[in-house]
Amino acid sequence: MKKISRGFVYFFGALGGLLFGYDTGVISGAILFIKNDMSLSSFSQGVVVSAILLGAIIGAAVIGLLSDKYGRRSMVLLSAVIFALGSICSSLANNVVILTISRIVLGTAVGGASALVPLYLAEMAPAKYRGTLSTLNQLMITIGILSAYIVNLAFANYPYGWRIMLGFAVLPAVLLFIGTLYLPESPRWLISKNLEDKAYEILKAVRSNSEPNEIDEEISEIKEANVKENGGFKDLMQKWVRPALIIGIGLAVFQQLIGINTVIYYAPTIFSNIGLGEISAILSTVGIGVLNVLVTILALFIMDKIDRKKMLIMGSLGMAVSLFLLCIVSQFHIANNNILGYITLAFLCIYIFFFALTWGHVMWIMIGEVFPLKVRGFGAGVSSVANWTANLAVALVFPFFFEKIGNILFLFFAIMAALSILFIKNKVFETRGKSLEAIEIMLYKKSKAI
Ligand code: BGC
Repeated sequence: MKKISRGFVYFFGALGGLLFGYDTGVISGAILFIKNDMSLSSFSQGVVVSAILLGAIIGAAVIGLLSDKYGRRSMVLLSAVIFALGSICSSLANNVVILTISRIVLGTAVGGASALVPLYLAEMAPAKYRGTLSTLNQLMITIGILSAYIVNLAFANYPYGWRIMLGFAVLPAVLLFIGTLYLPESPRWLISKNLEDKAYEILKAVRSNSEPNEIDEEISEIKEANVKENGGFKDLMQKWVRPALIIGIGLAVFQQLIGINTVIYYAPTIFSNIGLGEISAILSTVGIGVLNVLVTILALFIMDKIDRKKMLIMGSLGMAVSLFLLCIVSQFHIANNNILGYITLAFLCIYIFFFALTWGHVMWIMIGEVFPLKVRGFGAGVSSVANWTANLAVALVFPFFFEKIGNILFLFFAIMAALSILFIKNKVFETRGKSLEAIEIMLYKKSKAI
C-alpha cells in the first residue's frame, strides 16, 4: 500500500464536520427569505430550522451504530450521499412540508457526521494527538458555519437566493464523497472484524515515521482494548458508571441550554427584529462566524494548558454576564436601531468568544473522556443524542418566545449558564492530564468509597 499523507487523512476525515456546520448554520440567513416566500408563522419557522435536528438525533444514534457493523468509511460515504441528496431536495422544495422532510433527511447525515468524525479522527490518530484532533472537528464545524454565513451574504440579493444557499452544500458533499473513496478504513474497526493484516498495512501507510515494532505495539494495544470494549445499556447503567453518565448528559444538555444555537441559527432574525435590514443582519452574522472560527483556533493552543473545569466555569460566567447585560440594555428605549444593533452585536460577540473558547470543544472532548473503556463509544453516543435533543427543544421554541418577549428571553439562557456553574462545581471531575485508565480507576474507587 502506498504512503497516505496524514494531512489528507485528517482533512477528509474531518470534512464531515464542515458539512455539519454548513447545513446547521445556513438556515440562519435562508429563513429570513423562506419565511416570506412561504408565509411562515414563527412556529413554522422553528419547525423548518429544527427539522434538521430531529434528523440528527436519529442519525447520531443509527449511523453511529451501523458504523460498528459496516465500517466507518462506508458510513461516511453514505452520509455524503445523504448530504448531497438532502441539500438538493431542500433547495428545490416548493412547500413547507417537503422542505421539512428534506431537512429531516439531511439531518440524519449531520447526526451521522457528528458521531463518525470524532470517532474516525480518534481512531486514526496516534494517542498523543487525540485531544488536538477533537478540537480540529470543532474547528471544521465553525468553518462550516462561517462558510454558510458567507454564502448567505453572497446570495441574499438574488430572487430565491435561499435555494442557492441550501443547495450550495452539494459541493462539499461531493468533495467528501470523492475524498472518502481514497480514505483508508479505520485500523481499529478492521481489527474488531479480525482483519489484522489489512489494519497493519494501513497503519504502515499512515504512520510513515514509525518503526515496524511500534506498529505491532499499537496493534496489540488496539486488540487488548477491543476485548474489553462492547458494553451495552446495562453496563452504562451500573452504579459506578453513573457519575460519568451524569457528566456526559449534563454537559451535553447544558451546552445547548445556554443558548448557543439561538445565536448560530437565529442571529439574523435577532438583528432584523431590532430593525436592521436583511443584508446588515446577515453581515453582522458573518462577523459572529469569523469570531467563532478565530477563537476556536485560539482554543487549540490553550486546551491542554488550563483545567477543563476552570475553562467551563470561566465560559459559563462570561456567557451569563454578557447575556444578562444584553437583556438590561435592551430594556432602554434606544431610538436609533443601528446603535441598538451594534450593542446587541457587541454582547453576542462577547458571548460567542466565551463559548468558542470553552464549551464549544470542551464538551465534545469530555464526553469522550469520562466514560470507562467498555462503554466509551456508547456513552459518548448517548450524550451526543442528548445534545441534539436539547438543541432541538431550544431551536423549536426560540422563535415563538422571541416574537413574544424579544431580547428579554436571553435572561433564561443567562440563568442556565449560571446554573451550569453549580453543575460543574458539584458533578464534574477534572480529566485534564489524566490518562483514560486513571479516570476509570478514579470512578471505580469513588463508587467504593460511597
Ligand atoms: C455545538 C453546536 C454549535 C457549534 C457552534 C458545537 O460545539 O455542539 O450545537 O452549533 O458548536 O460553534
